[in-house]
Amino acid sequence: MFRKIAVALDGSECAGEALDVALTLAKAECAEMAICSVVDPLVIVGTTPPSPATDQLLADREAEARRLIEAAVEKAHAAGLKAYGQVHLGLPSDEILRFAKKTGADAIVMGTHGRSGLSRLFLGSVAEAVLHGARCPVIVVREGAAKPVAS
Ligand SMILES: Nc1ncnc2c1ncn2[C@@H]1O[C@H](COP(=O)(O)OP(=O)(O)OP(=O)(O)O)[C@@H](O)[C@H]1O
Ligand SMILES: [Mg+2]
Repeated sequence: MFRKIAVALDGSECAGEALDVALTLAKAECAEMAICSVVDPLVIVGTTPPSPATDQLLADREAEARRLIEAAVEKAHAAGLKAYGQVHLGLPSDEILRFAKKTGADAIVMGTHGRSGLSRLFLGSVAEAVLHGARCPVIVVREGAAKPVAS
């Protein structure tokens, strides 16, 4: 059913578990993996005017996102899957939806929560916006839910 599975990573534990679910699904479906991470300049820079310090902060976050994507692509390759990744700049939910559309993904896998949110909320804002906007199935993974149940 699934030929290409998009995964959204923000470096959180929850998104890492979503990646594992996506890898399992991709293996079962013989699907390709398309992995993305989005750096939101507004969160980093806010309303402060551009300066060498904010430029450096942005560059650091992009480098961090690139390392995250490289590690995830390597993990997928090690599992015998075809995979590639991209880092995008912009509003995370918009960029994830655009990435899924552009890559022709037929499913999106992500976490219920990410790096910044309050776990008491049912869903983080990025997860909620992607669920609202997606034209394909979205698999949302709650932290701890993908771990094997101890007997
Ligand atoms: N910048 C991002 N790039 C890629 N994926 C992201 C990004 N931010 C969030 N995600 C994806 O969305 C999932 C849910 O994160 P979300 O940001 O919605 O929750 P949160 O950080 O707990 O709350 P909020 O951001 O609303 O404060 C993450 O597990 C990840 O899969
Ligand atoms: Mg977040």
